[in-house]
Amino acid sequence: MSETKIPPVIRLKDLKKRFGIGDAENFALNGIDLTIKKGEFVAIMGPSGCGKTTLLNILGLLDQSIDGDYELDGQPVVSISKRRQARIRSRQIGFIFQNFNLVSRLNVIENVALPLIYKGITRTKRLIIASDILRNFHLNEREYYMPHQLSGGQIQRVAIARALVNEPSIILADEPTGNLDSRSSHVIMEELSDLHKRGNTIIMVTHNPRLTTYASRVITMTDGKIETDTKTTILKRKTSKAKHSPNPRHHNKRASKSRGNKK
Ligand SMILES: Nc1ncnc2c1ncn2[C@@H]1O[C@H](COP(=O)(O)OP(=O)(O)OP(=O)(O)O)[C@@H](O)[C@H]1O
Ligand SMILES: [Mg+2]
Repeated sequence: MSETKIPPVIRLKDLKKRFGIGDAENFALNGIDLTIKKGEFVAIMGPSGCGKTTLLNILGLLDQSIDGDYELDGQPVVSISKRRQARIRSRQIGFIFQNFNLVSRLNVIENVALPLIYKGITRTKRLIIASDILRNFHLNEREYYMPHQLSGGQIQRVAIARALVNEPSIILADEPTGNLDSRSSHVIMEELSDLHKRGNTIIMVTHNPRLTTYASRVITMTDGKIETDTKTTILKRKTSKAKHSPNPRHHNKRASKSRGNKK
């Protein structure tokens, strides 16, 4: 009962996304009704072309030429100024997308520390926080490498570390482990799982059914529509250590208490 009082993070009503006009008109999304509450971990599956990336782009305020209603934290997105939307995107939303762009003239640790500038954290602290998350991603030995000196998988992991470093409250992930081996995938899924346990909302597109075991809800799409929507039980894993830091929103504590002991 009290659940209904919590405003949903995301509410979509009859959302449609049309590409092209006239004969070329095509609905990538064709009537999506979806409510996502704070702290849900939603996995989205479905065949290629069914509209998953289009949906994530809209949720992340990257695409607004839509029909239907989108409310973010109870507020219609159309009524949020462009400036506030940009703030929301940089501070509240973490994007893990398929095409990763690191800043080529910055080294690994500087790339990862970049989003923290918006939080007004000093440079030294930014580098400490970035270093912590890189250690967690087994990239601490690459901190001072330039992007062109990294493998594709390493670039992907650095980009994910950068997307998660300021602990965004909404994480939108488009096949976050798409090109990674199982060990690297595991590291990233554990990181997402940690963020979920700390109360953040995660929406993850995946083609891998095994990854849905991390999710609390699995949605399947076909032809721009939601086909199934199922609540799931998250499997308990033994591998994560000390997940409940006393002050989960504080990066330094989080880093030293819940992460520092991992390799
Ligand atoms: N810019 C665009 N112009 C025209 N059509 C587009 C555009 N972007 C996407 N589409 C179309 O919208 C549909 C949904 O695309 P989308 O990228 O969302 O699929 P997806 O579910 O993410 O697929 P995949 O699993 O292959 O990544 C596709 O039919 C695609 O051709
Ligand atoms: Mg896609």
